[in-house]
Amino acid sequence: MKGLVFTEFMEMVEQKFSANMVDDIIDASELSSGGAYTAVGTYPHSEMVSLVQNLSSRTGIAIPLLIKTFGQYLFSRFVSLYPVFFENTPDAFDFLESIENHVHTEVRKLYPDAELPTFETFREGERSLVMIYRSQHPFASLAEGLIEGCLEHYRIKAQVEVIDRSDGRGTQVEFHITRIDV
Ligand code: HEM
Repeated sequence: MKGLVFTEFMEMVEQKFSANMVDDIIDASELSSGGAYTAVGTYPHSEMVSLVQNLSSRTGIAIPLLIKTFGQYLFSRFVSLYPVFFENTPDAFDFLESIENHVHTEVRKLYPDAELPTFETFREGERSLVMIYRSQHPFASLAEGLIEGCLEHYRIKAQVEVIDRSDGRGTQVEFHITRIDV
């Protein structure tokens, strides 16, 4: 997993909890990297799983909720870090459809060792978009948070129905996103 994801995660933990909490979860996680992450490095994704487990045990907040909250935070950071992806995409559904063939394709050029999920997308009528997430890693909750962050960024009210197709493992999940007219 790219170091950028770790450095952003530590930022969020510091902002939402405290700098002490960052030190605590690094100490408790027995990381082979020692927790000294740089944005351009690459680290085992198991380290993220340990960090989140330790944050969950210390805060009493369930792991999927922590990962989803991180996804929402990460999306707002992507908006600041990579404004170019948003310049010609004024619509939330168009943006979500562009992840697979544009956004993550560019990410792969920038970081050839990135381990990205795949997204298959199709429209179901005028108001619904279906995204099928497939990954080697169990980060469907991260995708859910990123989708929610995206809807919020575009100020879209929508309902997101999540259907796990991987026996609860979170490696293959369908998101049915339906706009609510207000
Ligand atoms: C400007 C927008 C975006 C950028 C720049 C971006 C970039 C990245 C980067 C750098 C990674 C880390 C790759 C690695 O760990 O090796 C990543 C992972 C990921 N991205 Fe994106 N991403 C964007 C938007 C999104 C959105 C909107 C979604 C959800 C629909 C998404 C879903 C994911 C997921 C779930 C992962 C974790 C890896 C996995 O599940 O296997 N990304 N992305």
